[in-house]
Amino acid sequence: MILISGGGSNMAAIVRAAEREQWARRLDARVAAVISNKADAAGIALAQAQGIATDVVAHQHHPNREAFDAALADAIDAHAPALVVLAGFMRILTPGFVARYEGRLLNIHPSLLPAFPGLHTHRRAIEAGCKVAGLTVHQVTVELDHGPILAQAVVPILPEDTPETLAARVLSQEHRVYPRAIADWLSQTS
Ligand code: GRF
Repeated sequence: MILISGGGSNMAAIVRAAEREQWARRLDARVAAVISNKADAAGIALAQAQGIATDVVAHQHHPNREAFDAALADAIDAHAPALVVLAGFMRILTPGFVARYEGRLLNIHPSLLPAFPGLHTHRRAIEAGCKVAGLTVHQVTVELDHGPILAQAVVPILPEDTPETLAARVLSQEHRVYPRAIADWLSQTS
């Protein structure tokens, strides 16, 4: 189960890896569905084109975070997934939601945690004068962008970098590292 909010390039990388590496046969795993909190997320059309089940749980149709998370959990549980993967899912989840999926809820964050949790990671890393940036795959816990680290990758920050050029460099590594971290998680728990 993959949750997205936008372009869905990490989701697409995971789907590609699952096919290329035959996760169904090797890991008894498949992408059960892709759920977005935004109806116009490009990733939803991408997933549909791949023949993957999709669902939209629109946050603005719910009066508060608890109600949204309850609807989201219902949509997830309809597929009874072993693992819930956040891939560019831009909503803060309630403690109740996190507890429900504890130990089987993964996130990718575009910084070398614990540095730069939250938003605008690339701009903040450049402004801080960092020489390297990167990404972190971690288990989700109640505290935002914390939780046990499963994988990281480092990229250089070049003198001419803008937040956009750095984001693109980090994103290409996300596409490599996230599928591998998920396959590792699946092989350790299957
Ligand atoms: C990625 O950089 C991810 O780490 C961040 O949002 C971006 C999502 O990109 N949380 P995409 O939707 O997977 O293309």
